[in-house]
Amino acid sequence: MKKFYLTTAINYVNDDPHIGHMYEAVVADVIARHRRRMGDDVRFLTGTDEHGQKIERAAAKEGVLPIELADRVVSRHHDLLKRLNISNDDFIRTTEARHRIGVLELIARIQEHTPDDIYLGEHSGWYCSNEETFIAENQVKNGVDQDGHKVEWTTESNYFFALSRYTERLLKHYRTHPEFVWPPTRLNEVIAFVEQGLKDLSISRSSIKWGIPFPGNPDHVIYVWMEALTNYISALGFGSGDVQPNFEKYWPAEMHLVGKDIVRFHAVYWPAFLMAAGVELPQRVVGHGFWLRDQQKISKSLGNVVRPYNIIDDFGADALRYYVMREMVFGQDQDYSDQSLLARYNSDLANDLGNTLSRALKMSNDYFGGKTPPTSCDDNDVLRQARAVVPQYLRQMDDLAFQRAIETAWELLSTINSYIVGREPWRQFKQTGADESLSRVIWNCLEGVRIVCVMMAPFIPASAREGLSRLGSDPDRIDAAALEWGGLPNNTPIRIGDAIFPRVDVAQYIGEKKMDENEESGRPARPRETGETPATPPPIETTQAAPPGMAKISIDQFMEVDLRVAEIKAAERVPKSKKLIKMTVSTGDDERTIVGGIGTKYTPEELVGRKVVIVANLQPAKLMGIESNGMVLAASIDGEPSLVSVDPSTPNGTRVR
Ligand code: ME8
Ligand code: MG
Repeated sequence: MKKFYLTTAINYVNDDPHIGHMYEAVVADVIARHRRRMGDDVRFLTGTDEHGQKIERAAAKEGVLPIELADRVVSRHHDLLKRLNISNDDFIRTTEARHRIGVLELIARIQEHTPDDIYLGEHSGWYCSNEETFIAENQVKNGVDQDGHKVEWTTESNYFFALSRYTERLLKHYRTHPEFVWPPTRLNEVIAFVEQGLKDLSISRSSIKWGIPFPGNPDHVIYVWMEALTNYISALGFGSGDVQPNFEKYWPAEMHLVGKDIVRFHAVYWPAFLMAAGVELPQRVVGHGFWLRDQQKISKSLGNVVRPYNIIDDFGADALRYYVMREMVFGQDQDYSDQSLLARYNSDLANDLGNTLSRALKMSNDYFGGKTPPTSCDDNDVLRQARAVVPQYLRQMDDLAFQRAIETAWELLSTINSYIVGREPWRQFKQTGADESLSRVIWNCLEGVRIVCVMMAPFIPASAREGLSRLGSDPDRIDAAALEWGGLPNNTPIRIGDAIFPRVDVAQYIGEKKMDENEESGRPARPRETGETPATPPPIETTQAAPPGMAKISIDQFMEVDLRVAEIKAAERVPKSKKLIKMTVSTGDDERTIVGGIGTKYTPEELVGRKVVIVANLQPAKLMGIESNGMVLAASIDGEPSLVSVDPSTPNGTRVR
């Protein structure tokens, strides 16, 4: 069994967890779940970084002890991990004894292995207390550093680590191990930084009390970054005695997952400390991008923090997990918005995944008495697509191209949908009943959806389980073998249940919750499109006058409009109206009534059999007493309608985008 040791950064406890912490935990969890199901012996560590000035100051401001603040924030992190369904094997707090033991061991090893590399010296420079680091002269302007943090001229008598001696060795390591830093652009930044030459690093602080006392000099505490980085081995019992089974088994780490802002600490300081101590280096430092809001980094000092709790409460952990993994190109930055989250939720989860699942289940339920069909199938479009996408998906998972891996799963979903639309099982059932041919068709649909659920299991574990169990499959079978065609059992009870991702009325939700402010207190449960909807939805807040002309909308806003190809099955004039025509249109899985004002140009007779494009997710409206469910698209030439048409061979229900 291959081992896989995966760590996240440890989070500061000066404030409550935010979306950056949440995101990193989710990415690590996706990787951990994926590696586990591929057969690796995974150890997944996360934790909190509790010492140092940042926390000392935040606690003083609240008038509590640093450990009291830490205890409170740590419990919020535990809570978040639980609510996000994170499968970490360990959680380290840097205030734990095992951590102190590991840190003291690392320093002892450096002193033993390279006795001159830690020395007592004096240092003056611009010190940034926010980052707890000295800032180079050329990066300071008007008393602030490049990130806008205040710096102070500081002189300290400190212990130093002879980082300058490691310049060449580090450069050699990057050359011989180009996989050490991912993505490659970050590796280049690291190399450029090291090539400028490294300065020795002050590794003790006498101005701070809240930390681990420096060995042999209790007036100093150990520099918080040196201390914090050591969590990756202290959590494995490094220094805990003659036998350190976890350290021996799991070190070196296969992956340190961190945000791009702290790649440097992990790719420069950390390997230098380990080299000095004679300890093996980790394999890889992976730097993810930042969630931004309005193009700015989300941070406490900017006051634009997004807290994930509301989203989890209202839409479930999987909705948030899905959004962050699907929306962000891994490694790059991404703007966060509640609107785009809800748009993705409705279009991808409620519609594409949720509807396909319930559609397939419903057919099987209706035609095969609440069970999976009796006959399987081994030659059809869905099978061919499944065999094509699975290897591609696995490569994308290995390449950390998560958003692509999800898109690949969606390609299979889309094939299943076209297959359903093309085969029209409802027609087949009417004509021949639940014969063997229909059994194969329905089985193919269910089997395709089962494979999509297995592909999605690392991303949306709870929903994937639920999907699998509704499909009559073992919800725990999500390993590599389960990605192969043929796993769905025959004649096994299925369960339709409520929608796994009920559609959300975005306007209502946003209006009601003013989501972008993300207040945390006492808000009502999420509104759904059916049932339990309050009588009068609150108005949507508009803070700006409409711009001249048409406002630009985002792709996500566009994607909220569910445009579909539909076939007009029947049409008649609405009595007493010159314009209105009542049409029965088929979208493949439903037939509905739409009333449209196209009667001045078209006769009912010429409309029947025509393929049109409809807005399928429009709220119902009454026109001359008839409920219309959607809108048929037409251009208007001086009030004269001209229907939008598609190639007549386009299957009903095909999405238009
Ligand atoms: O840096 N988007 O802790 P931290 C994405 N204690 N990721 C973000 C983010 C955002 N808006 N904001 C923060 C520390 N992160 C140190 C780490 S490790 C030995 C010590 C990421 O609480 C950030 O990049 O400021 C980091 O990886 C993690 O959240 C914790 O950040
Ligand atoms: Mg930070």
